[in-house]
Amino acid sequence: MTNRPDLPPEIARRRTFAIISHPDAGKTTLTEKFLLFGGAIQMAGQVRAKGEARRTRSDFMQMEKDRGISVSASAMSFDFASQKGSLRFNLVDTPGHSDFSEDTYRTLTAVDAAVMVIDGAKGVESQTQKLFEVCRLRDLPILTFCNKMDRESRDTFEIIDEIQENLAIDVTPASWPIGVGRDFIGCYDILRDQLDLMDRADRNTVAESIQINGMDDPQWEEHVPPHLLEQFREEIEMARELLPPLDPKAVLEGTMTPIWFGSAINSFGVRELMEGIGAFGPEPQPQAAEPRQILPEEKKVTGFVFKVQANMDPKHRDRVAFVRMASGHFTRGQKLTHVRTKKPMAISNPVLFLASDRELADEAWAGDIIGIPNHGQLRIGDTLTEGEMLQVRGIPSFAPELLQGVRAGDPMKAKHLEKALMQFAEEGAAKVFKPTFGSGFIVGVVGPLQFEVLASRIELEYGLPVRFEPSQFTSARWVSGEKDAVEKFAAANKQHIGEDSDGDVVYLTRLQWDIDRVARDYPEIALTATKEMM
Ligand code: G4P
Repeated sequence: MTNRPDLPPEIARRRTFAIISHPDAGKTTLTEKFLLFGGAIQMAGQVRAKGEARRTRSDFMQMEKDRGISVSASAMSFDFASQKGSLRFNLVDTPGHSDFSEDTYRTLTAVDAAVMVIDGAKGVESQTQKLFEVCRLRDLPILTFCNKMDRESRDTFEIIDEIQENLAIDVTPASWPIGVGRDFIGCYDILRDQLDLMDRADRNTVAESIQINGMDDPQWEEHVPPHLLEQFREEIEMARELLPPLDPKAVLEGTMTPIWFGSAINSFGVRELMEGIGAFGPEPQPQAAEPRQILPEEKKVTGFVFKVQANMDPKHRDRVAFVRMASGHFTRGQKLTHVRTKKPMAISNPVLFLASDRELADEAWAGDIIGIPNHGQLRIGDTLTEGEMLQVRGIPSFAPELLQGVRAGDPMKAKHLEKALMQFAEEGAAKVFKPTFGSGFIVGVVGPLQFEVLASRIELEYGLPVRFEPSQFTSARWVSGEKDAVEKFAAANKQHIGEDSDGDVVYLTRLQWDIDRVARDYPEIALTATKEMM
């Protein structure tokens, strides 16, 4: 299946996307059903280990199990036999908690589209809104799934209005629900002129679909009780008058979202959504880079690191760089140039993240996500290439909003702590600053929960109990300017100066006033809240 016949078929059939949602909207359940319909698992419930509610196999860490949140972003690949041909889905998992927004942002640099899941009773919730804003920054195409239609839900127009108003995006219905709550019997598939009936008795079967021939087809009366049919006919007529028709170009540009209604737990509406991902997905997109953008169909292989995760498997103590392939056809063992250091790297053990396991990847095409085990050579933002020296752009690092000092419980273990902190800094799990004055480190994060995650991981992965303690500083800014000016500035403001884990100079601030003062007194210096990672 392809929307771009000019692409090599293996690239054209790839769809790389993330699911964004508020906790509890049904992301895990939907993921499970994707895998079920993709044939990657045989039975629902395999992803969610028995008795251990709400965990998918994409969650690796102890902390996540304890907290019931998804801290790490991981990837899953599986095939899906769509009506128009075989698709390869690469589903990248985004951390659901707001404290991990930076990680989420970077994860979203690796996908071509997002599926937004909302709960039909709750509408657009805070976390959905935040994640949506991040997608908007990148103009990502968004497909919407309104879940839990088997329960009491809001009025369909109200849901659509809320999305249009809160998220400032046009919404077009791809399906329309018939009946509400206990009366919900299924959906009219607007795109295929088809009536899909939900089977409440068997949660894992695909819905019965009845081909309809327009609104006057006598089959409507056969399958839909009269009171539901009357209301549905009114609604669909109003929808046709009031809501915009589907415009694939607007979907691709991120200004319109098609919405499907369904019930993930009943496997209802899921297949239609998957077909929708195939139809409007889109296929792998060009990647912004310097000095020129990278096209997926280019022969030479290029990829970039959007995430580094250490100690994924505590038994192996490995570090895996998650690489999004931007172009070409990669084969195992291939030598690629690591653009930052200009050194060749033989990629001999790349892994592919299948639904239940990881596996050696013999090959990968533009759009795929592979994991490259390494000893720290690969950092977030790094580009690997077979061809000319291109550097992927647009992978930012944000200034932390919360800072704390950190100390090892055992002062003799300070060196160990430094090693652990540097590792987490490389992963992008925290910012680590070494102040010029005093000993110890200052750790910066976006949300308070991250301190807890770090303390737990340092103890679990390095056997080091640590204490976080208040810091006089509240934020940090990267310092840029001519070398002399930066040196002069640093010398005059020693008590505020530190270095980040890359050795770049930062200005540690207490108040907004500090930042304003620098702007006033040092016009030759620029303080920035983001830094490109490369
Ligand atoms: P999340 O990953 O977005 O946090 O959501 P998750 O899939 O874990 O779903 C949250 C809860 O909503 C789960 O119930 C799940 O069974 C339920 N759910 C998901 N889809 C539907 C649906 O279509 N209809 C209904 N009625 N419920 C749905 P739970 O009781 O919290 O967990 P569990 O005991 O079922 O595992």
